[in-house]
Amino acid sequence: MSKRSVRDIEPRGRLVFCRVDFNVPIAGGRVSDDTRIRASLQTLRLLSERGGRTVLASHLGRPKGKPDPSLSLRPVATRLSELLGAEVGFVPEIVGPAAERTARGLEQGRFLLLENLRFDPGEERNDPAFAAALARLAEVYVGDAFGAAHRAHASVDGLPRLVRPAVCGLLLEAEIRQLGRLLEQPDRPFVAILGGAKVSDKIPLVENLLPRVDAFLVGGAMAYTFLKARGAPVGRSRVEEDQVGMAGRLLAAAERGGKAIVLPV
Ligand code: 3PG
Repeated sequence: MSKRSVRDIEPRGRLVFCRVDFNVPIAGGRVSDDTRIRASLQTLRLLSERGGRTVLASHLGRPKGKPDPSLSLRPVATRLSELLGAEVGFVPEIVGPAAERTARGLEQGRFLLLENLRFDPGEERNDPAFAAALARLAEVYVGDAFGAAHRAHASVDGLPRLVRPAVCGLLLEAEIRQLGRLLEQPDRPFVAILGGAKVSDKIPLVENLLPRVDAFLVGGAMAYTFLKARGAPVGRSRVEEDQVGMAGRLLAAAERGGKAIVLPV
């Protein structure tokens, strides 16, 4: 793979800013599904074994640039501490003197989790000043937030432009390898399964995959928009009305190309 990864750096004693995707469900103040936290453990253990002083950062939900206590990452720090068997520090801040002081005090092999990046409006705006403030917490950048890698936000895009070295984590590396192989030399038949709520987010993906796959299986709430485009009754199910036309065009393009788009019955 042409991208440098966390295996290629020497983090010992350095402040490592690791962007993870800890956008996990929280219920009653506890993490109710820790799959995404577990997915980051390999990278975090590697950083710890190699003596990195790791600052972890993630978004949680969509708080729209304002603090929202129900979307605090504090419960994630608790769950991560349990999974790692080592205490993960938490600062109820993202940038600023207190966060910097706590980060500078980190010992080798230890972790600190910052508060939800999206509590600051600079994150989603990819604000250069916010990226520069985050860069004060970073001597090395590790990008491992596969689920957020498509967002041009400050912690994903602006920050790694300011920090060297900037490398991918083991989760991102594994996903890039898998996707690269699937897009370039897939075994046939090659079937893509798509789900989620929003057709609008997936249109570029469907357009890119259409020439490569043999069939699409569409599930999740987005299937209703496709069903409606086919003229099927959808009752009160969630439909993106403004995407029904686009869904119809994708169905027609698939048919012309001899590709099946299979919808739930
Ligand atoms: C996700 O859950 O899909 C990712 O964490 C990205 O979240 P977002 O769609 O709110 O940017």
